[in-house]
Amino acid sequence: MAPRELIADSDRFDVPRSYFADDAVWRQELETVFRHAWLLIGHESEVPAPGDYVTRRMGTDEVIMARSEDGPIHVLLNSCTHRGTLLCKADIGNSSHFRCGYHGWTFANDGTLRGVPRGRELYGKDFDRSSLGLRAARVGTFHGLVFATFDQELCSLEEYLGPMGFYLECMLGVSPAGTDAPYGSFRFTHLGNWKLEADNLAGDGYHLRHAHRAGFEMGLMGAQAGAVEGVCVQFPHGHALRAQRTAGQEEPAFPGYPEDRWLEITEQLSAEQVRMFAHSTVVHGLIFPNMAFVHTPRAGGFDAGEPDAAMLQVRLFNPLGVNETEELNWLVTPADYPHEWKESAFKTMQRQHGATAFFESDDLENFRRMLQVNGGREANRSVPANFDLARDSAPFTPWFDGPGSVVGSDISEVNQRWFYRHYLDAMGADA
Ligand code: FES
Ligand code: FE
Repeated sequence: MAPRELIADSDRFDVPRSYFADDAVWRQELETVFRHAWLLIGHESEVPAPGDYVTRRMGTDEVIMARSEDGPIHVLLNSCTHRGTLLCKADIGNSSHFRCGYHGWTFANDGTLRGVPRGRELYGKDFDRSSLGLRAARVGTFHGLVFATFDQELCSLEEYLGPMGFYLECMLGVSPAGTDAPYGSFRFTHLGNWKLEADNLAGDGYHLRHAHRAGFEMGLMGAQAGAVEGVCVQFPHGHALRAQRTAGQEEPAFPGYPEDRWLEITEQLSAEQVRMFAHSTVVHGLIFPNMAFVHTPRAGGFDAGEPDAAMLQVRLFNPLGVNETEELNWLVTPADYPHEWKESAFKTMQRQHGATAFFESDDLENFRRMLQVNGGREANRSVPANFDLARDSAPFTPWFDGPGSVVGSDISEVNQRWFYRHYLDAMGADA
């Protein structure tokens, strides 16, 4: 990979296909991009009681998210410190301790090494267990979402999210009761490089009416099919967001939310957040490198009598290999909203963005088709992926005064260029 191949910024914005197909790139990503980022792990409500745990991945590292007996959430490397065996084999459960299946070392759910079979006899009375606890990641939370990093030098989670927090609060901060992930997590793997999902969800408004045309023609797109105005926004650390709202609306309204909660929403959010969020039709974005969210505030109500509930899906995509991606997703709702409203939001998520839903299957088929050709010698070496769309978009904010670098078009590749700039910077590549 010669540096000059990475991105020719003067007249073309290209990323070589090798970045989507070469094992060496994937291994380097784990060392650089994933090692030095706050990574989403799950939602606090997945481990509500002491002893509750779920197993997850941070890049390719197996980890346990556990709530210890004294209350805090820990993210621990799921690997015995004796010889490295996978410690916890279940996806979800409750246990105060984890015992290794090989020689029986036993760890408390805060990572402390508690038991070593015949320890005093075989290791001697001065054996120091304290240095052999499970490797613990730093943990941070944001409105119920749990993040972790093994990088001790990285800035705080709050600083990492930066002004993106303003927008996340529009979706996660609407109720003083906080948030909930009432249906837990959904996990599946698909063929394709993880960055395809990242750049798609960072802001690919261009593919919608083509790749998802059937959804529009079947009338499944709700308010997104009407007259909308949109923006793309970029933030420090490589995060990006694309937002649309119904054109020409001024009075605050949140059609996908229960009307008796509208006043509460305006009290919970700032005036700037209300202006951004009111009449919203879709907001999706990327928290660098591998968390995304899709918020469709007016897409529910397919069945007669069902509430037209907003839907917020949070997603995580882990690169199991250069061509294999593990996705987890969660429906995140205000914690104290009615059960019927959550049910409607859940149906919307499963119909649109579940593993077999039309949005997902349209996109995953295109990702798989890229995989099919990216390994070809000519494609890999001489036909880069192109990101030139709308390179001359000027800042333009007639209805929008939130933080970040705002571009007044939602059909642009500005967010993808932003993502790849930060990605290549993290990879130590010349741009
Ligand atoms: Fe876990 Fe030996 S590998 S106790
Ligand atoms: Fe899509």
